[in-house]
Amino acid sequence: MNTRNIKLIPIVAVVLLMAACNRDPKKPGLIYMPDMTYSNAYETYSQSTIPTTEGYKMSAREPVAGTIPRGWIPNDERIRTNDAYLLSYMAKNHFTHDPAKWQEEYDRAGASIKDPLFYTDENMQEGKRLYQINCKVCHGEKGEGDGQIVELPDGSDGPYTARPPQYSSRLPQITDGNMFYAISYGKGMMGGYGYQLDVNERWQVIHYIKSLAGIKPPAETVTATK
Ligand code: HEC
Repeated sequence: MNTRNIKLIPIVAVVLLMAACNRDPKKPGLIYMPDMTYSNAYETYSQSTIPTTEGYKMSAREPVAGTIPRGWIPNDERIRTNDAYLLSYMAKNHFTHDPAKWQEEYDRAGASIKDPLFYTDENMQEGKRLYQINCKVCHGEKGEGDGQIVELPDGSDGPYTARPPQYSSRLPQITDGNMFYAISYGKGMMGGYGYQLDVNERWQVIHYIKSLAGIKPPAETVTATK
């Protein structure tokens, strides 16, 4: 390359730069890849040219049939028509977790909230899985209150100073609603699990801890398949 050509480089560069400009500051100048500049994706909630099966021209598609939002009340006739079953799904609106009112609310929940889930293998297995993730560290593999942070393998005290009660002695003394309230909002040194476990998950865990305590499921729900 001779020196004359080298001098031309900045001039060519400036010309190219100018050509890439546009009077409208919001628009790019030359566009080399229009597919990337102007995305084919729809703007949220804009109209679409392709109608849905119902004939609406919405860019947002309808949810798949049977879809329910997380935390929603199951569309189960048995649950929807029974206030005691419904109550745990709406516990947030009906019970406070103000520590000053703990005992009062615990008693009220204990008397009014009923377990809405059928005893199925699926619920039991999921309850076991959730128990092992969330509760075993304190309550122990078999619910004896000897979890790994409570009691060390050599039998000495672990770092967690409160020893949970054995399920087999405590759970027969309380109702399902009491368990639900204690698990949702906590009790004494135990924190609440309302944020980690949704309502169904809390009931699944309750099925499992009752089985650890040797409590038989209520007869009317055992045989149900749902
Ligand atoms: C950090 C340790 C710890 C973890 C984790 C923990 N618990 Fe507890 N739990 C306790 C302690 C301590 C008590 C005794 C509280 C008291 O009576 O003051 C207790 C008590 C209970 C009780 C008896 C409540 C009552 O009304 O007497 C239930 C039921 C229970 N826990 C269930 C669970 C479940 C289910 C999980 C997991 C989702 C869980 N716990 C996780 C420490 C824990």
